[in-house]
Amino acid sequence: MKLEVPVNHCVLGIESSCDETSAAIIANGKLESVVVSSQFFHNSFGGVVPELASRAHLRAIVPIVDEALRQAGRSLSSIEAIAVTNTPGLMGSLLVGLNYAKGLSSALGLPLIGIHHIEAHIFSALLEENRPELPFIALVVSGGHTLLVLVKDVGDYELLGETLDDAAGEAFDKVGKMLGLGYPAGPAIDKLAASGNASFVQFPRAMMSEEHYDFSFSGIKTSVLYWLKKHPELPHDDIPHIAASFQRAVVDVLVSKTLRAATEKGMTDIVVVGGVSANSELRERFKSDAKSRKLRFFTPRPLYSTDNAAMIAMLGALKLDRDVTHDLGLRAEPRHPIAYRT
Ligand code: KG4
Ligand code: ZN
Repeated sequence: MKLEVPVNHCVLGIESSCDETSAAIIANGKLESVVVSSQFFHNSFGGVVPELASRAHLRAIVPIVDEALRQAGRSLSSIEAIAVTNTPGLMGSLLVGLNYAKGLSSALGLPLIGIHHIEAHIFSALLEENRPELPFIALVVSGGHTLLVLVKDVGDYELLGETLDDAAGEAFDKVGKMLGLGYPAGPAIDKLAASGNASFVQFPRAMMSEEHYDFSFSGIKTSVLYWLKKHPELPHDDIPHIAASFQRAVVDVLVSKTLRAATEKGMTDIVVVGGVSANSELRERFKSDAKSRKLRFFTPRPLYSTDNAAMIAMLGALKLDRDVTHDLGLRAEPRHPIAYRT
């Protein structure tokens, strides 16, 4: 079934769930603007510091929304609804975007639409011209989540599997830290791996052949740690080989489980989203392996894969079209499952 992007709505999307402050406008089915401000200062702490994140959101939210309006050539009076991430995420960070959205909604008398961040990642695939058709299999791979979902419709999902411990992005970040690559380390590992030998070390592919669709990435992280401890004199030139070997193991598991889920569930369309879907080897492998099995593979460009408000505005327009709106009592929820029907 074709999933149409509604062409009759003008939605402002706001995202502040972690360390990106972002605003975007979708009007007449088209993305008119998206502005993303990333908090790079967390880099020196080796991870996101929640208190600093929410303060930075507070400073950024007004200019970021203003800039999104400016780039779209619009004023607030032409906005029809405000979509905002209210779950999951860091409480203090979520509250900044949500309270700002509530203020706008109340002052302008506009509908408020609370958005589930992971659900929005799934529909980021619609930001590209080449769009999947319902039902499809979605692999969501980010810093906080790794899950495999059967998407039947907007708001109708079956959770097939998820990570039982670390998210795939978390494993990239932790292994990157061991290799001295800063935070977040996914892009740096991606770059280093391109010049490395992926057969240098055979790291474990946890749960790859098991029947269920769950994942586990803490074992591979520990294996890298033990391997590095056993080889304290590792020549600097071998670091790309470790990055490539680690990345190959993660990619093998993600690709094999997702393709098996698609085949077993009789799906032809596969959507891969979330920050880790920006990984070049993951994209290439999905592209070639899906093609050889006559499956179709969709992934948004990297700007729409990592956290952004374009996906929030997109899902907002889809929800508005289905008359899903919320009142000012909408709460921020640090955790909330996706497998529910709205
Ligand atoms: O979706 P996202 O921007 O934020 C969350 O919702 O978590 O994902 C961030 C994660 C980080 O763990 C980061 O290291 C990872 O995505 N990431 C990558 C790449 N770009 C970002 N991982 C592997 N390869 C990349 N090119
Ligand atoms: Zn995300």
